[in-house]
Amino acid sequence: MKTKYIRNFAIIAHIDHGKSTLADRIMELTQTVSQRESSDQLLDNMEVEQAHGVTVKSRTVRNFYQGDDGQEYEYNFIDTPGHVDFSYEVSKSLAASDGAILLVDATQGVQAQTVANLRLALKNHLTIIPVINKIDNAAANVQATEEQIRQLRPEFAQMPILKISAKTGQNVHQVLEAIYQRIPAPVTTAASPLKALVFDSQYDSYKGVIAYIRIFDGQLQDSQKLQLMQQKVNFKAQEIGIFTPNMKKTAALNAGEVGYVITGIKDVGSVQVGDTLTSADQPTSQALASFQPARSMVYAGFYPKDGTSYAALKEAISKLALNDSSFQYLAEESEALGPGFRCGFLGIFHLQIIRERLLKEYQVEVLTTAPNATYHVYLKKPLVNQEYLTITNPVKFPDFSEIDYVTESYVKATITTPNNYLGDIMKLATQHDGEMIELSNQQELVVITYKMPVSEIAYDFFNALKAITHGYATLDTEFLDFELVDVVKIQIQINYAPVDALDIIVPRPKAAQTAKQLVQKMKYTVPRRLYPMPVQAIVENKSIARIDVPPLRKNAAVNGEKRSISKKQQLLRRQNINKRKAAQSDIKLPQSVFDAILNLN
Ligand code: GTP
Repeated sequence: MKTKYIRNFAIIAHIDHGKSTLADRIMELTQTVSQRESSDQLLDNMEVEQAHGVTVKSRTVRNFYQGDDGQEYEYNFIDTPGHVDFSYEVSKSLAASDGAILLVDATQGVQAQTVANLRLALKNHLTIIPVINKIDNAAANVQATEEQIRQLRPEFAQMPILKISAKTGQNVHQVLEAIYQRIPAPVTTAASPLKALVFDSQYDSYKGVIAYIRIFDGQLQDSQKLQLMQQKVNFKAQEIGIFTPNMKKTAALNAGEVGYVITGIKDVGSVQVGDTLTSADQPTSQALASFQPARSMVYAGFYPKDGTSYAALKEAISKLALNDSSFQYLAEESEALGPGFRCGFLGIFHLQIIRERLLKEYQVEVLTTAPNATYHVYLKKPLVNQEYLTITNPVKFPDFSEIDYVTESYVKATITTPNNYLGDIMKLATQHDGEMIELSNQQELVVITYKMPVSEIAYDFFNALKAITHGYATLDTEFLDFELVDVVKIQIQINYAPVDALDIIVPRPKAAQTAKQLVQKMKYTVPRRLYPMPVQAIVENKSIARIDVPPLRKNAAVNGEKRSISKKQQLLRRQNINKRKAAQSDIKLPQSVFDAILNLN
């Protein structure tokens, strides 16, 4: 196909506005898949995506479209996720596109991720086609949605705005026409050396790393000798091809096209998303600009659960990270849990999805510690080569006597909500240390912007927001800066032995209440023993809350049974020995203990 007939575009929108449904319709109308093959949400085929009803991974598909002008066009589209925790996926997809269809649900209007994704698309200089979806829905307010869209950008004011139902297929033909009419063909130089962007990747145990690429210049041939410029890795293409949506082998990929290359590389670290792929014999002189690395917002420890080995966890994590470059990890060691990993996520939902993917795709079950934010700790005794310690693991938080002051990562949280929930949201945000920066009205919607510490957002803020607004409010977060905070570390001792993996960092004013709630929850989640076990919360060397986990059986010495004094003494002695033994902490903690921290309210 000549480059001038190729169109590469992404479908972007707020969560649930209908991207995957539109992708299904496009594949159907272009006969990429037959109606028989087409099941709802054809592209959201990962188990976790079906379980949660959301897109987690971007999907690339090549379609051929016969335009009303009589010309055949090649449409490479990328269906992207809508949830804020997967915006890194969106930005990678946009780097491989020339245009974007911006879908807006007519029953909800413009939402936080509509604006955020539009901003990302404009940063990538993409041509935008705004489209109103769900016009078949009785609750659709097409006119109000159109007005909101027109206010987003000056160029939208005059532009025809398409109104469709991705579900019924109504007017989807107009979208297909607009794509070749409005989105430009890729700008390429076919005669130049090969230059392709690796915008995604996955691992296959037989084929090694499969890189998803967009070719900017030159041509890629099957069996060609190639080079990854950043990693300086050379290899021979084992197979090249396109997505239809399944992988289909081709002999060549041309400038402007999107496809895959099977590298055969088994070392997952050698292929990095954002790298430039070029010819090994005739390399391009300049690599493409790489992606900004994702900034982890939330950290948690991942440890192998019973029946999973550390080696299996390590392998699964490294392969999964290849398929999700916003997921980061580093090896760490816990006294209580042994060797594991400190992992970085874009949010709590991202954490949950990674945990589920490890189980579903790699059969690896992990024990997850309570999530936390990033802290910068400035010490009284200045450090030699650095200004502060960067703490992503509460266990590494220095002793309070050494700390001068601490700063924590803050985000700008933008909440879009119908008017009537405003009061409840303001109350919730204040409880979570939110400081209001801005409040503005967009027809019936209110947009409130808060400055908030990540630790306050990371726990249950999103769920609480959804609950009080019955799912109507939306949240978008963006990193702001590090700000001074007054925080302390709560350490948990079970039966007098500290359990490092349970350490958490909390604001000082909330420490007493949190400690109390925490030990209360532990009472029912710590596995019981034959003797009562104290659970204590320690802050700055002082025990500030305590509870006793009841014994499995009644205390032998006081159970009211008729026993001789010597028998009772014998039993008491045995219990004391048990107690001392247990203080060495051989208690295996179940996930529910860590979840107790997660669910603190
Ligand atoms: P994420 O990728 O998770 O952000 O979702 P999405 O934007 O891909 O939305 P999806 O296509 O999964 O659609 C969300 C819901 O809206 C599904 O229940 C669809 O059936 C429904 N839906 C999508 N398009 C239409 C439409 O045109 N009309 C109606 N009535 N429902 C629609």
